[in-house]
Amino acid sequence: MIPIIIDCDPGHDDMMAIMLAAASDEIDLLGVTTVAGNQTGDKTFENALRVLTLINEEIPVARGADKPLLRELVTAPEFHGQSGLDGAELPEPGIKSLDIDAVDFIINMLEESLEKIVLVPTAPLTNIAMVLLKKPEIKQKIERIVLMGGGMHDSNVTPAAEFNIYVDPEAAKIVFDSGVPVTMVGLDVTNKALMSFEEIDGIIADKGVISSKVGPLLKFFANANKKIFGLNGAPIHDALAVAAVIDPTVVGTKFLNVVVDTSSELSRGATLVDIYGATERKPNVDVALKVDTPKFVGFMLDSIKKLDRKFA
Ligand code: RIB
Ligand code: CA
Repeated sequence: MIPIIIDCDPGHDDMMAIMLAAASDEIDLLGVTTVAGNQTGDKTFENALRVLTLINEEIPVARGADKPLLRELVTAPEFHGQSGLDGAELPEPGIKSLDIDAVDFIINMLEESLEKIVLVPTAPLTNIAMVLLKKPEIKQKIERIVLMGGGMHDSNVTPAAEFNIYVDPEAAKIVFDSGVPVTMVGLDVTNKALMSFEEIDGIIADKGVISSKVGPLLKFFANANKKIFGLNGAPIHDALAVAAVIDPTVVGTKFLNVVVDTSSELSRGATLVDIYGATERKPNVDVALKVDTPKFVGFMLDSIKKLDRKFA
């Protein structure tokens, strides 16, 4: 099994990332850490606890940063609602959270683990940057950082940037420049990691303990994406990063140079991918450029059915 820690800001697609990891026989989900992003730190932390309570998984949860390293927090209620997980009633948190900060939790887990750990950030990279700043030598215990974020030709919060990188570009720059192996699962592929309205209606029709919550939640998320981007469904951005850990063939990558723009307000958070090697800059990131959407959607549908069977 592959040991991973998910750092997230639930968030509908973060929820799907957690469920995919929890349901996978290939993944050992060592912990979930939360950060402010889609919603405030209070809400993303509570949402992570609610999701893990819903699927009855006693996985350690540690709370992280309530704001970016330098900038003011930007949230995304237009996509995730005021709660951060609008669309269905989730259970009150029924699992205990850790009294340790996310940064110290990640550092401790990396130090104590006999094997390297894959970090899967699906949110602004504030916590991950703080891990690297607080204990640089811990890099040697990180197998890879497989992150949802960025985009070569695609953006969603400004014409230049994707939300996770835009919110904390300084943190993203620290991560991309860290020398740790990084896989960037960006919008170029995650906008194609789409669950259609028909597939979502199929989940609702299953009427299982998990599908009866996940279906309406995904419908909410899909409606928001249809209204704003004209998409025919819900792009499950974050779960594609987990899927890429489970089965790297679900995406096609190229090892390219990526620089994060932190200097300009106009293009703040842009991930500048040197696709043609036009600069002298060395490649530093495996950039996902292709996605096997049917394989990915199959992972998602199988995971939801597997979780439903747990409660049948
Ligand atoms: O741009 C998509 C990313 O921003 C996803 O991680 C989503 O959850 C939001 O955080
Ligand atoms: Ca997210």
